[in-house]
Order: sequence, then C-alpha cells, then structure tokens
Amino acid sequence: MVQTSAPGKVILFGEHAVVYGESAIALAVSLRFRMRVETRTSNRARSHRVDGRRVDTGHHAYFAHALAANWTGAPLEMRTRSEIPSASGMGSSAALAVSLLGALTELGGGSIEGEGARERIARAAFETEYSVQGRASPTDTSTAAFGQGVLLAKQAMPGLLMHVQRGAAEWYVHSIKVPRLNIVVGYTGEKSGTADMVGKVRKAYERSAFIRDTVKEIGKVTMEGLTALEREDVARLGELMDRNHQLLYNLGVSHPKLDRLVAAARPYSHGAKLTGKGGGGSMVAITDEPEEVARAIKAAGGEPYIAKIGAPGVSRDGD
Ligand code: PMV
Repeated sequence: MVQTSAPGKVILFGEHAVVYGESAIALAVSLRFRMRVETRTSNRARSHRVDGRRVDTGHHAYFAHALAANWTGAPLEMRTRSEIPSASGMGSSAALAVSLLGALTELGGGSIEGEGARERIARAAFETEYSVQGRASPTDTSTAAFGQGVLLAKQAMPGLLMHVQRGAAEWYVHSIKVPRLNIVVGYTGEKSGTADMVGKVRKAYERSAFIRDTVKEIGKVTMEGLTALEREDVARLGELMDRNHQLLYNLGVSHPKLDRLVAAARPYSHGAKLTGKGGGGSMVAITDEPEEVARAIKAAGGEPYIAKIGAPGVSRDGD
C-alpha cells in the first residue's frame, strides 16, 4: 500500500495563453490531493476501483487514462481525499493525476525521490491531461510534480527542469524562487470544466486575429511579471496582474462573479485577476492586507482562502 499527495496551484500569469506556447508562472499551494493505492487481493478482482466504485471513463476520466497508459499490473483499489476544491481553478485534476502517477511509481518498485522520477511523473501526467482535455499545457502538472514556483518559457533559462513539445507548441519548464507574497484566492463557487474553457478559447483563437494578438500580449505581460517578481516589485506585479485579468476578460474566460470578486479585492490589493481556467472557478489577489481581502471576497459572495505558497511537489506520505 502506498500513500502519496501532490499540491494544488495558483497561476499568477499566463493561463490559456500557455496552451499556445506562451509563458506562464504558477505557484504550488499548501492544499493537497491525497491518494492511497493498493493492489486488490481477491483473485476474482478484474477492475480498478476508486473510492469503492469501478473506474469508468465517464466518471473517472483521469484515472482511466493514466492507468491505461501507465499500469499493466494487478487491479488497484484507490482511495482519494482532496483539500483542493474540485473545478475551482486550483489544479485539482493535475494534482490527482500526479499523485496517482507517484503512487504507480512507488507500487512499481521505483521511488518518487529517484533520479528523473519527478520528470517522468510530470510528463506522464501532462499526457493524461492532454488526452482527457483534448489540449493542455504542462503548467498544472509540472507544478504538482515539482512544487514550489514554476515558470514555463519559450526558451531555456537558469533553473531549467525539462523541455516539453506537443504539436506546434513547446515549453521550457523551470523552477523559480518562491516570492515573498501574501496571496488570497477567492472561489466563486461556480464550477467550470477545463476542457470546455480551453475548447472555447481554441475556437476563438482559430477564428480571430484579435484573440491571437491577445494571447501574445498575455505572454509579454507574463515575462514582465517575471522581471517584477525577480525585483520583488509588488506594485508593478499588481499592475501586471490587473492587466492580465483584462486580457483574460477579452479572451472571454471571465465570469460576472469573477469580475465582482476581483473588484472587491482590488481596494486592499496590489493586483487581482482570475486564476486557472476561468468561466467561474477562482481569482487570486496579492496584498499586504490578506484578512481585509478575505473579508471583501466573502462580502462579495466568494469563498476566500489565504494561500500558503511554495509547497513541496508530489511526495510519498506516511503509511
Ligand atoms: O483551472 P485549471 O487548474 O484547470 O488551469 C487551467 C490552466 C489553462 O491554462 C487554462 C489550461 C492549461 O492546460 O494550461
């Protein structure tokens, strides 16, 4: 039996644009997806089970895809426990895929801490997300696998972890220093599907030069955000987050509730924007007054969470 966990994340810059090969910056948060996996002992057991139910592609798409591509052993009994609200834009599906692949590594006799293991887990989890969602970037899966801070860029820079290519898009995945920031996440309570939101942007991207320019502009804002992070210039960082929110709004992935929470947080924040897929889900603010921001988000109808950033990546937990 093995127990593993992997962190959720917030994207500070670059969601959606990163799917087209632009840059993005994500930070692991201290909320984790936890998994307990063992082989089923009964000789009659034929199928994998999750939380007492037989794995089927409809209900358990991530499990079904990850197992089909990465497990040839005996049927598995899997138990899950998540601290990350599902469909919230905080990366619960990536954390699920990464903690499962971590468990498969350990069950197969390997170790998550072994040479190159995190990279293999990150790559396999990206393939899982890609096949379930039809299109994806390695942002969430890399952050769940490696933890801390992650930058996806168009070229290799210091801190390079791996290079990933998929069709016309390629990404250089890096580890970055976790900034000293107070981060508050506000969940709208509106669930939205990553595949739906990514598909919506894809249609617009194929049709409209304005959308293609917006995607490029988000990439530029992300790289300016990296400079502001390195200089610990929170005022500039905040301005760029506000700008990124406007650009995501222009892409059509905001939601009235997201706009409301962003507006409520701004008077007490350096900057605020939606984070993740949008269309509902969550927003993120950076601030010197986290309690005030949390109160404003709550008053505007959202669920605030004062996020601890810089969590470790996938790990084997105590049995
Ligand atoms: O909302 P989430 O956690 O599924 O984040 C999705 C981030 C996107 O850029 C929209 C998709 C991706 O694969 O990068």
